[in-house]
Amino acid sequence: VQDLLSEPVLAGSKVLITAGGTREPLDPVRFLGNRSSGRQGVALAQAARDAGADVTLIATHLEVPAPHGVKLVHASSALELREAVFENAPGQDVLIMNAAVADFRPARIENSKIKKRDEHSAPVIELVRNPDILAELVSARSQNPDLPEFIVGFAAETGDEQGSVLEYGQAKLKRKGCEMLVVNEVGATLTFGQETNSIHVLFADHAEAVQASGSKLEVARVVIEQISNAAKSHAA
Ligand code: CTP
Ligand code: CA
Repeated sequence: VQDLLSEPVLAGSKVLITAGGTREPLDPVRFLGNRSSGRQGVALAQAARDAGADVTLIATHLEVPAPHGVKLVHASSALELREAVFENAPGQDVLIMNAAVADFRPARIENSKIKKRDEHSAPVIELVRNPDILAELVSARSQNPDLPEFIVGFAAETGDEQGSVLEYGQAKLKRKGCEMLVVNEVGATLTFGQETNSIHVLFADHAEAVQASGSKLEVARVVIEQISNAAKSHAA
């Protein structure tokens, strides 16, 4: 049921959202993964759908059900996600890269289960870098006008002695080259798998950030509203 209180601010827009966390295979029964539950991405898909958008959700290992009324695509590893993003991105107006993409993957996938072999030894797992899907898509845009005009990244930051959450966010926004970055403030027990979020929305074309906190759905509605406002002025 459409939320009657929310305006269809994205009516007629096509929005592609990635959600969840990738799994990097090690052997036929094992993988390297992360703690992303996919709740925030699912809330974004729901909020975008309620705002009238035509939503495609690329799901990587969601712990929660995908919302009704969206087109669902599945991917597992970062390489599969990259393929699914490049296949589905042409013709979309907005891309929201919410999935937690593994930065590294095992250099080799063993064909059979890794065994202990002897009493004491343990294998050393060699990792290689995964491609940066978001950065690749941003740079592919200069060759392909069909790719989304408005690209949104997500980042979880804690801040430390070297910089604040906002400073790290601004630097990441520049590095990625996307139009908007949503920065999640995280601590050891915050955000991953939790019901509430604290976010800062950063924009490439102006310095003023928007802060919001609340349930994943409340925060998602703020993000969708900001995308709708910003995408309009971006296109104008
Ligand atoms: N991302 C991506 N491909 C990757 C890694 C990240 O597309 N290989 C996207 C994420 O989906 C997210 C954004 O980039 O939208 C920021 O992810 P984050 O992990 O914060 O950025 P990194 O560049 O990987 O930086 P860090 O070293 O802090 O992890
Ligand atoms: Ca990363």
